Amino acid sequence: MKTVLVGLVAGGLLFCPYAPATNTAQLKADAQAKVQTFAKTLKGELLTAINQGGLVNAIDVCNLKAPAIAAQLSTDGWSVKRTALRVRNPANAPDDWERNVLDYFSATMAKQPATPSIQATSVDAAPFRYMQTIKTGQMCLACHGSNVSADVQAALTKRYPQDQATGFKLGDLRGAFSLQYEGPR
Ligand code: HEC
Repeated sequence: MKTVLVGLVAGGLLFCPYAPATNTAQLKADAQAKVQTFAKTLKGELLTAINQGGLVNAIDVCNLKAPAIAAQLSTDGWSVKRTALRVRNPANAPDDWERNVLDYFSATMAKQPATPSIQATSVDAAPFRYMQTIKTGQMCLACHGSNVSADVQAALTKRYPQDQATGFKLGDLRGAFSLQYEGPR
């Protein structure tokens, strides 16, 4: 009994000396729920936009909706974004920690291309960070693949003159969701 108590106290101290309310497992579960909502909402918005106004119209929707959905999920100490080694929007460029994780994702996927999803969490106490792979699906190729149509390419070049996010193949690592938590624990 004594050992168990010591273990619990040490565990609490490790994660938060002052208000041990949230542990890493809970933060990870919260992060995964946010990723699921982000992915599902954005995919829905994209499909609707493509069906209603075509791909070129959907580029504008992606430009506005992706950051808007990320902002909606960035509450209560969380910040949510997407990033990649090759970005379309320079605002999505990775920081050092994200770049390292993306390198690790990319190396792991090169060895095991069929891996459905890889996750990474920060090991230091604060802030809590979480990343999860985004693979290139069939519907992504129209705007991120090797055979992007001329009108889509023209619209992309116009809006994103530094676009690096074409040339991906089905199943390639496109990027990652990246979340950070700096709220109370
Ligand atoms: C209609 C065109 C279109 C389609 C289809 C599309 N994207 Fe994008 N994607 C964009 C645009 C435009 C941006 C830049 C958004 C911004 O300005 O933040 C982008 C950005 C991204 C980013 C953020 C990193 C970066 O490059 O700036 C990721 C990750 C991404 N897309 C993944 C996907 C995935 C995965 C799919 C398929 C499920 C997909 N996209 C489908 C147009 C598209």
